[in-house]
Amino acid sequence: MGTRLAVAPARRGLRGSIRLPGDKSVSHRGLLLAALAEGTSRLSGLSGGADVAHTAAAVAACGAEVRREDATTLTVAGGEGWLHEPGAVLDVGNSGTGIRLLAGWAAARPWLTVLQGDASVARRPMGRVAEPLRRMGAAVDGRAGGTLAPLVVRGGALTGVEHRPAISSAQVKGAVLLAGLGAGGETVVYEPVPTRRHTEELLERFGAEVRHGPGWASVRRSRLQPVELAVPADPSQAAFWVVAATLVASSDLLLERVYVGPGRAGFLDVLARMGADVTLEGEDPAGRTADLRVRSAALAATTVAGEEVPGLIDEIPALAVAAACAEGTTTFADAGELRVKESDRVATTVAALRAIGVAADERPDGLVVEGGALEGGAVDAAGDHRIAMAFAVAGLASAGGVSVDGWEAVATSYPGFEEELRRCG
Ligand code: S3P
Repeated sequence: MGTRLAVAPARRGLRGSIRLPGDKSVSHRGLLLAALAEGTSRLSGLSGGADVAHTAAAVAACGAEVRREDATTLTVAGGEGWLHEPGAVLDVGNSGTGIRLLAGWAAARPWLTVLQGDASVARRPMGRVAEPLRRMGAAVDGRAGGTLAPLVVRGGALTGVEHRPAISSAQVKGAVLLAGLGAGGETVVYEPVPTRRHTEELLERFGAEVRHGPGWASVRRSRLQPVELAVPADPSQAAFWVVAATLVASSDLLLERVYVGPGRAGFLDVLARMGADVTLEGEDPAGRTADLRVRSAALAATTVAGEEVPGLIDEIPALAVAAACAEGTTTFADAGELRVKESDRVATTVAALRAIGVAADERPDGLVVEGGALEGGAVDAAGDHRIAMAFAVAGLASAGGVSVDGWEAVATSYPGFEEELRRCG
């Protein structure tokens, strides 16, 4: 039996500051690289969700010594001398990022790794990582001709390749670069549209021989040094609160030390175009983190399409809720990747919008949302954490409240979301 969360319309504005989890993309990569580094790394501010816990358990099963200091801080003692073949199947839970990055990581290890996840992961395309890893010399198999999980990876001596994926995916880039870290020669990835650069940035932090620019990255076999890493707050989780504070009248909310680096802050540009009032304060000199101050504002419709889509793909459910409250018709296009996320997010977002009284339609590569007022009703999270949180936000901004069935999905990425919601609801 799933759990249901009923969210009443907000009685007052959202004020003060919100506790955000650490960036999930950074957390996965930090753990995988710390396991390879020769010595003990300390990772603080990690995402506390189940997705990242599965990756921590996976590297521990491969011999890294993972110790918990507190709820969001782990130390990881790693290096070649510690790592060994896992004695059992590695379970990634609901995490597509976890399984794809681990496939690349495992491809460079001289042993057999079996990776499996839940029913959602079993539906998601894996050929996009299996194919380049095979070309590098790993044996990668799986269901449906090696394109679906569970994945069986026999790693070993790899050779660097030049990879030009047809789709822009930071998970694919990350998997290939992680494999490249243990491959002979140079491994280069050229992307159709630049995606989030966390793999490149963290490879640099751990001292790898890496070079990168917008849309390309290369790596050579490297020995990694341990690091002390303070993971910034996750912009994808911040997005729910940015939309909430924008829609709920009299809000003035602060979101601290959010990652706003390349490929992650596109949702802020879209909301700015729609008329949102978000200011960046206290930016770090490298432009990677900032505090976001959000005040309520009236929104107008926009079109989200083309090259900006990969940089905000995870934020589309939240942006669709914003669009439902904007004046006019908003279109999301060139977003076919939405159909292969934790759920088919074109279908699940449209179904949830309709369930709360919004006119919305599916397109093969996106959705169209008619702005107006949110009536409220009951939605199904469809096993997808981002659908659950987006429609909890819709509840705050609705006339009659929204109840979300399948609320338990939120535990994959943001177990503290409900508590924050109660604090400010
Ligand atoms: C992620 C990349 C994106 C994103 C996912 C996290 C990452 O997926 O949707 O939530 O950490 O690399 P794709 O690379 O498949 O677009």
